[in-house]
Amino acid sequence: MSDQKPHAIFNNPTQFVEGWYWALPSKELKVGKVKAVTLLGRNLAIYRGISGQVVALDAYCPHMGAHLAEGKVEGDEIRCFFHNWKYNGDGICIDIPSLEKPLNVSIKTWQTAENYGLIWVWVGEGSPNLLPFVPELEQVDCDYRLGTRFIKNCHPNVLLINAIDAHHFNTVHNLPLEIIFDSKELNSHAITFSNTTRGGDDYGLIRLIRPLYKNEVTYSMCYWYGSTGTVTLGPDFLHFYIVFALRMIEGGKTEGQTILITPKRSGCLKWGINQGLLWLTQQVGNYFAKGDTQVFQTIQFDLKTPTKADHSIREFMQQVNRQKALNWKTWEAVDQV
Ligand code: FES
Ligand SMILES: [Fe+2]
Repeated sequence: MSDQKPHAIFNNPTQFVEGWYWALPSKELKVGKVKAVTLLGRNLAIYRGISGQVVALDAYCPHMGAHLAEGKVEGDEIRCFFHNWKYNGDGICIDIPSLEKPLNVSIKTWQTAENYGLIWVWVGEGSPNLLPFVPELEQVDCDYRLGTRFIKNCHPNVLLINAIDAHHFNTVHNLPLEIIFDSKELNSHAITFSNTTRGGDDYGLIRLIRPLYKNEVTYSMCYWYGSTGTVTLGPDFLHFYIVFALRMIEGGKTEGQTILITPKRSGCLKWGINQGLLWLTQQVGNYFAKGDTQVFQTIQFDLKTPTKADHSIREFMQQVNRQKALNWKTWEAVDQV
C-alpha cells in the first residue's frame, strides 16, 4: 500500500509548507540595489535600503503592473520605473509625482531575515516562526561560507529524505555501519533524526579513531519546514555542519544552496583554521552528494513497500504532512478538508 494520501503536502508539486525559504545570497544584494526573485511560483522584488534592511514585496506595481525590480531604491523606499510611484518598506504608496497626494494604495510585503549568508523570506501570514538553524549551534557564533547551488530533478522533500534513508548508506555509500535513527520534534516545524549506533567494529578506520571519541560518531539531521535540512556529522572533537537550503521550483523540482558552517575559534591562527575546516566541510558534503545524483534525475518517488529501515522516512513524511500547507504561486492556505 502506498504511504502517500492523495492530497498530502509531501512531494506535492502544487503545495508547500508555510515557512522560511531562502531567496538569494546576502552578498548578491548590495545597499541600494533591487533584484527580481521568483519564490515558490510568486514573483517578488527584493531590495536593500540605505539602512541595510532587506524588503521583499510583490513584484508588480499596483498602478499598471510594472515589475518593481526595474525601479530604483531611494533611501529605504522603492520607486517604480514606469510612472515613478514610490512605496515604503511596508509597501504603502507614499508619493505619486503627478498627484498632490498619493492614492490610498499599497503592495503586499513579506518578512525577511538574514542568516548563514542568505536572505530568507517568511512565506506565510501572521508572525513568522523560527528561522532554520543547526540545533547544536543555536547559541554559537559561527563562520560560514556558501557552498554549491544546484538544481535537481525531484522534489525537495524527496531530496531531503536521502539523508535519513538508513539502508542506502550501505548500498550506495558503502558505509559499513548499521544506522538507526532516533527522532525528536524540536518544535512543530522542525524534527531531528540522530543516529544511535556506534557500530563499525570490523572496520579498520573506525577501530583506529574509536579511542578519540566518547560517544558514537554523531550523525544528526534537522529538518525545517520540510525544506531546509541541517547535517551535523563527526566524532566528538570535530563536528562538521552543512545546511541544505532547498526550495521547490516549477514542476516540483528543487533549487538548492548548501551552506558550510563552523564555530568561530579564538587564537591567531583562527581564520586560517576555519577556512581549512570550511573547505573540509565542503569535501564531506561532496562525498555524500556523490553516488546519489543519478537517482534523483529519474526517481518517481512512491514508498509503496516500506520496510523497517524506512521507518524514519515515514516519520518525516508524516511530520511534513502535519504542517500548514500553502498553494504554489498564490501562497494561499490550502483548504483543509
Ligand atoms: S506602473 Fe508603476 S508607477 Fe505606473
Ligand atoms: Fe545519499
